[in-house]
Amino acid sequence: MSNPSLLILPGDGIGQEVMAEVRRVIDWFGAKRDMQFDVSEDLVGGAAYDKHGTPLHDDTMAKAQEVDAVLLGAVGGPAYDDLDFSVKPERGLLRLRKEMDLFANLRPAQCFDALSDFSSLKQELVAGLDIMIVRELTSGVYFGEPRGIHMEDNMRVGINTQRYTEAEIERGARAAFDMAMKRGKKLCSMEKANVMESGILWRDVVTEVHADYPEVELSHMYADNGAMQLVRAPKQFDVIYTDNLFGDILSDCAAMLTGSLGMLPSASLGAPMENGRPKAMYEPVHGSAPDIMGQGKANPIACILSFAMALRYSFDQGEEATRLESAIEKVLSDGVRTGDLLSDEHSTAVSTSGMTDAILTALDASL
Ligand code: IPM
Ligand code: MG
Repeated sequence: MSNPSLLILPGDGIGQEVMAEVRRVIDWFGAKRDMQFDVSEDLVGGAAYDKHGTPLHDDTMAKAQEVDAVLLGAVGGPAYDDLDFSVKPERGLLRLRKEMDLFANLRPAQCFDALSDFSSLKQELVAGLDIMIVRELTSGVYFGEPRGIHMEDNMRVGINTQRYTEAEIERGARAAFDMAMKRGKKLCSMEKANVMESGILWRDVVTEVHADYPEVELSHMYADNGAMQLVRAPKQFDVIYTDNLFGDILSDCAAMLTGSLGMLPSASLGAPMENGRPKAMYEPVHGSAPDIMGQGKANPIACILSFAMALRYSFDQGEEATRLESAIEKVLSDGVRTGDLLSDEHSTAVSTSGMTDAILTALDASL
């Protein structure tokens, strides 16, 4: 059997730096756990635009469709702010999501014990926090037609359309209920059924799918209330299922509860391929952070944890994923900190690669 294949797309800004660290972790699993991957690398975002004049070359898109999993760093940066909308770095990312049909975006918000005093919320509100947001990723207002900016009565009008079919709501809901079954069996669905017809449909379809998951406790919440509840009492949630735009916003909010955006991974999953693996792309939730790029300051943990999610969801290596997550927990409880986390006199400041050094040492110790 051939090795599982990975396409690495570092992208822009700190994406390059954190991905270099992930490659060291991948190499560790090759050397010490005899897990070989066929790794290839390509361009996305501004880096692809600089070379090809497009944020995602067709050849790269084709490669992404063929591999077992894509690992993406981050896209965007001030150098690309004035580009035409159609070639902005973000369009490359959105094209990958859409053409690979990665409809289920899993965004865990987990608070590491060692960092619970780092949240902007009181420690008791976030200690032990473990939420999974399932964000619908291929439809809604991000992709709905009509869209654009046009003239009406001598005035510019900007249009985007929130559009969901019941099939789209349903497949995401199944992913969310499946996730709830593997966790605390609690699912909260968030929409705006009080103002949006798409929200009414969302609520109806999620309620229908619930019939197949009687063990899961389902609740519904308006998304604005959901945002409020996330900062009021985040531990009331287990799995949250929401649409593309609300999921974008609510997942940033949930992420920050944990103390640092630099800590959180994500998985975007589609339908199973012929080999049974889901179409999949893994990426850190943080962006390209151009303000700190190239200085060895970036926290590689979110990207390394994204690889852990790949081990779990694409390669059926849940135990190895846990090994990696535990190594990271160990390093954090030892007080090893990149700049985004630097807290007190008991912690040890490290660079991007210094963090990986510590993680690899902890991995060695786990054997
Ligand atoms: C995210 C990001 C993207 C989004 C951007 C970069 C297009 O904010 O993954 O949350 O809006 O989905
Ligand atoms: Mg976002």
